[in-house]
Amino acid sequence: MEVIISNTYEELSKAAAAMVAKTLNAKPNAVLGLATGSTPLGLYKELIRMHKEEGLDFSHVTTFNLDEYVGLKPNHPQSYRYFMQENLFDHINIAPQNTHLPSATTDDHEMFCESYERMIDECGGIDLQVLGIGSDGHIGFNEPTSSLSSRTRIKTLTRQTIKDNSRFFEAGENVPTYAITMGVGTILEAKKVILLASGEGKASVIADAIEGPVTSMCTASVLQFHERAIYYLDTAAASKLKMRDYFEWIQANLPSGPA
Ligand code: GLP
Repeated sequence: MEVIISNTYEELSKAAAAMVAKTLNAKPNAVLGLATGSTPLGLYKELIRMHKEEGLDFSHVTTFNLDEYVGLKPNHPQSYRYFMQENLFDHINIAPQNTHLPSATTDDHEMFCESYERMIDECGGIDLQVLGIGSDGHIGFNEPTSSLSSRTRIKTLTRQTIKDNSRFFEAGENVPTYAITMGVGTILEAKKVILLASGEGKASVIADAIEGPVTSMCTASVLQFHERAIYYLDTAAASKLKMRDYFEWIQANLPSGPA
C-alpha cells in the first residue's frame, strides 16, 4: 500500500488525476471504476482541464460506477448518473454508451447485478478504480459488516450514511434507503485502486483503514490485501496516522526518485 500525503485538497486531486492520466496514456482503452461523493470532484475537475487543455483522450475509455441509489431516475439531480454527467461525462469526449452505472430502476435486482459483474468481466476488468470513503469506512456502499468477498448487490444503507448524504438532498426529500453497489470482492479485483480522502472528518476512519485490522467493520481496510492500492490524502485526513512520518519519508526517498 502506498500513502501519498498532499498539503491541500487541490494538490491531492491533481496527484490522483495524474495517476488516472498515466493509466490512460499507457492504455487508451482503459476501464475506469468511478466514484461519486464530494471528494472526487477535484479529481474530475482536473481531468476535465487535462482533456480541454492537454488533449487527455477518453474516446476509447469505458467506465463503471461503483453504485447508484435505488429508485432515483437518471434525471433526478441526486442520482449518481446525474452527478457523473454534470461533473465529468458531459465535459469530456467519452462515448455515452461506454459509461455504466448500476440501474436504479430495474425490477430484477439480482439479474441486473449479475449482468453488471458480467459486463465488467467482458470489458477485461477494471484497470483503475477510484474510491472515496464513507464516515463509517465504507467503500462504494459496502457498509460495515459487508462480506469482504461480496459482489454487486442491493444494500441497505446505515442510518449514519443516510444522514451523511442528506446534505445533498432538498429539505424534506428522503435519501433512498437502498443502493446497488459493487461488492468489496468486485473492488478488490481492480488492477489498481486509488482511494481519496480529504479533511479532518475523515482522519479517524483513514487511520482505521490503513493502520487498523482488516475488518468488515471498516470495509476500506480490505485494501491492505490489494497489491496496488494508493491512498491520496491531504494533511488533515492524514492527521491521525501513526505512521505518517514514515509515509512522508517513503515519498521523499522513492527508489525511482520523487513522484
Ligand atoms: C457515498 C458514496 C461513496 C463515497 C462516500 C463519501 O456514500 N457511495 O462512494 O465515498 O459517499 O462521500 P464524500 O466524499 O462526500 O465524503
